[in-house]
Amino acid sequence: MKHNSDIEKRRTFAIISHPDAGKTTLTEKLLLFGGAIQTAGAVKNNKIKKTATSDFMEIEKQRGISVATSVMAFEYLNKQINILDTPGHKDFAEDTYRTLTAVDSVILIIDCANGVEAQTKRLMEVCRMRKTPVIIFINKLDREGRESFDLLDELEEILKIKVCPLSWPIGIGATFKGVYNIYSKELNLFAANKTKISEEVIQIEDVNSSDLDEQIGNNEADLLREELDLVSGVYDHFNREDYLSGEVAPVFFGSAINNFGVKELLEAFLDISPSPLGRETDMGFIEPNDKKFSGFIFKIHANLDPKHRDRIAFLRIVSGKFERNTFYNHVRLDKKIKFANPTSFMAQDKSVIDEAFPGDVIGLYDTGTFKIGDSLTEGSEFSFKGIPSFSPEIFMELENKDPMKSKQLEKGIQQLTDEGVAQLFIQQPGNRKIVGTVGQLQFDVIAYRLEHEYGAKCAFTPKRYFKACWMTTDNQKELEQFIKAKSVYIAKDKDDNFVFLAETPFLLQMAQADYPNIKFHFTSDFKVGIEN
Ligand code: G4P
Repeated sequence: MKHNSDIEKRRTFAIISHPDAGKTTLTEKLLLFGGAIQTAGAVKNNKIKKTATSDFMEIEKQRGISVATSVMAFEYLNKQINILDTPGHKDFAEDTYRTLTAVDSVILIIDCANGVEAQTKRLMEVCRMRKTPVIIFINKLDREGRESFDLLDELEEILKIKVCPLSWPIGIGATFKGVYNIYSKELNLFAANKTKISEEVIQIEDVNSSDLDEQIGNNEADLLREELDLVSGVYDHFNREDYLSGEVAPVFFGSAINNFGVKELLEAFLDISPSPLGRETDMGFIEPNDKKFSGFIFKIHANLDPKHRDRIAFLRIVSGKFERNTFYNHVRLDKKIKFANPTSFMAQDKSVIDEAFPGDVIGLYDTGTFKIGDSLTEGSEFSFKGIPSFSPEIFMELENKDPMKSKQLEKGIQQLTDEGVAQLFIQQPGNRKIVGTVGQLQFDVIAYRLEHEYGAKCAFTPKRYFKACWMTTDNQKELEQFIKAKSVYIAKDKDDNFVFLAETPFLLQMAQADYPNIKFHFTSDFKVGIEN
């Protein structure tokens, strides 16, 4: 029974947004509420600075610091909250996608002036694919922004999710007076306040009562009543099941920098968000209250400092109880391993832990035994599914510049791709190595690390591919014909799956038309893949 309450009290989620919408600010305010940090600025200092966009060493240094904030855990209202940090820099988008496999829900932040932005759209695609429950926080209401109904329309249209406003703003920018919380029937009056973390709220059960006019003035009260009428006419009543199944996103409004709307967001989140969920494996679904321990690695952080060559593998616990110094089964290697110093992350402090529960994320010191997606179990042989690879955006052929070091290059690129720095596709003839990434920076990281860690020298030649497409079919013969006909554009991924490296959208369309029985996917997670 104790185990069930340990699971029930946990909430593991990520805050995601297009850069600059307020992710760092909101994270920090949540940590302040939870008492996990004492001063504002603590998280911000770990943020990858915008000025460092072209200097990968600087970024890596800052990423190094941010290992400590990879998971920020704190307690609030008897709940154990685990916030998984996701890098804001777009070149590390793949890291973010993988982190999303380790959370049970997300809070998506939208800047009220900018609405849906490029990164918002892509992140939401990943959430939709995984049916992750999403709460939307519309931020920066203290600044001039777009009209609320317009923003909600845009969210529904572009993000392809139904929304359900649970709070409603009164004015915006210079006229911003506060929000009415539809969920708890409370009025929260705005006061610019960057330091205080408490929020005062006024209970207003009935918006038609004159209390509302007294608080915000007759005109504003009338307008609010009108808008709330419209809200209840246009949007369905909040239904938790629809939120949990990823079909409807509740929406809150606020101003993170002013601690405004943050407490109500957090409390509503704790009320409605899912406790740790199970995960699919190749041998069926594993529930969190399964007695035996299991978990998977979703991120590996390498230390670039040659004096500290250790890597940290991040493990999400799915079921049972993880215990220090206990032998577990590394399923891929069929090997028993134990961990003397597993660490947990409490905001900025790392500490060795003795046990951890479903929903928790712990850091395991790794000397190269882990690959992203690896499963650890208490004896069982199953592997978790669903750390998908997404099609890279940039492709380069890797060339060996020092023939004497080809073994080192081979080992280095293998290990770096195991860590998830980039994806490797092998093309025939000649075992040509095509490296794919989402950002240019990764190529600098790879070249640097191959040289400094493996003593290998390389060069990259750009390849003009548009997407890597994984393929499925019911017609094996047609697939074989396709692979033969397009052999120059065919490669194999790390798991020996064939991929089609399409040069242009047009050529992909042609392939689709010519081979109607083949389905092309932009992700390796075929079951729920985004089809073209
Ligand atoms: P990110 O992690 O999503 O990239 O965003 P971050 O929190 O760093 O916020 C981006 C900018 O937006 C910051 O300003 C931050 O202060 C500001 N901001 C966040 N929330 C609010 C809000 O509710 N209202 C207003 N008006 N601004 C907000 P900056 O100038 O880039 O940084 P800084 O100099 O303030 O640290």
